[in-house]
Amino acid sequence: MKHESIKLPYTYDALEPVMSTETLQYHYDKHHAGYVTKLNGLIQDTEFESKSLIEIIKHADGAIFNNAAQVYNHDFFWTTLSPKKTTPSLELQSIITTQFGSIEEFKKDFLNKGLSLFGSGWVWLCLDEGEKLSILTTSNAENPIRLGLVPLMVCDVWEHAYYIDYRNARGDYLEGWWKLLNWKFISFNYANYKKHREEYFSSFCKGNIPYSDYIDEV
Ligand SMILES: [Fe+2]
Repeated sequence: MKHESIKLPYTYDALEPVMSTETLQYHYDKHHAGYVTKLNGLIQDTEFESKSLIEIIKHADGAIFNNAAQVYNHDFFWTTLSPKKTTPSLELQSIITTQFGSIEEFKKDFLNKGLSLFGSGWVWLCLDEGEKLSILTTSNAENPIRLGLVPLMVCDVWEHAYYIDYRNARGDYLEGWWKLLNWKFISFNYANYKKHREEYFSSFCKGNIPYSDYIDEV
């Protein structure tokens, strides 16, 4: 199976001034595309050649895992963002408020986690089987699916995500990034979790990309 990155869901300049056209061109066309190319080369003539991205993430190690996870993480990252102003669903707002105190408190926790992550990695909002939300940081390519969690949103805190626009000021990048959140997608992920919860935890997504339904709906 030949893997591809998702089609960028907006134009290269759509996230300006928070993320410049140059950043998107490098990040999507070079970094993200690079992981896709490497993954397709690495899985040739291996047991993973015909596997879905989720199956590879769940079972592979080393370079194959790293590149597969980076493809998934970036697909998820681009979809977590939108140039349009969006708001959380009432259900999502309610669970965040119940578990974090308020959206503002959640934002503070999330951005602090992003600031304090050492080196390269990702910050996720995840749900577990008991509907407990958690803000999780993962290093390098690591991914919550390996931990049996359901991702709802993600922020890329590799330097390549912000260095062109913010240099080393990761905090400024995170503040800007928050303004671009695609709450419609995050709310969809929560609703999808509620709908398919048993399926998620018995056989995660059955090999499908969890947001493929979302992409179809939009
Ligand atoms: Fe990235």
